Amino acid sequence: MTLPIYTYGQPVLRKVAQDIPLDYPNLKQLIADMFETMYKSDGVGLAAPQIGKAIRLIVITLDPLKEEFPEYADFNRAFINPHIVEYDDTETEALEEGCLSLPGIHEPVRRPKRILARWVDEDLQPHEEWVEGYLARVMQHEIDHLDGKVFTDRIAPLRKQLVKGKLNALQRGKINCAYRVKPLR
Ligand code: NI
Repeated sequence: MTLPIYTYGQPVLRKVAQDIPLDYPNLKQLIADMFETMYKSDGVGLAAPQIGKAIRLIVITLDPLKEEFPEYADFNRAFINPHIVEYDDTETEALEEGCLSLPGIHEPVRRPKRILARWVDEDLQPHEEWVEGYLARVMQHEIDHLDGKVFTDRIAPLRKQLVKGKLNALQRGKINCAYRVKPLR
């Protein structure tokens, strides 16, 4: 089932999401619904707060990047209770990001290229691994959602000034996109 995506201004996007028990009711169905919602809206990542739930759960697909990165073919994974344990700040990179909750806004965001993350996978196996490349980028964006942050919080002050009008419009429910959304009003 495709779920509506909560957009900028919705309070749930500013909450710190909580870890879930691994016997969380209907977890498999929720993950399936999040994948479907992400695919239908052409996203590469979706965090549970974006569908209105303040829980630590994200889905990521890197399959759309397979032309450039063949190793990402069929990469479709759910991350349960993900946390960033450590940022490797030795190398950072500014890349353009967008977000299904902030349609129409694309801005460069500087982030570390490598992170140590822990999570539980869909087979309920725990992981703690150094992650790099595009996956590290998307995981940081999605885990930010679980910590009540959106990517425009991390852009340069001048750029922030320039997107202020667009953010205000989103908050007022002036949204133009091809997928189903749930604005504040
Ligand atoms: Ni996002």
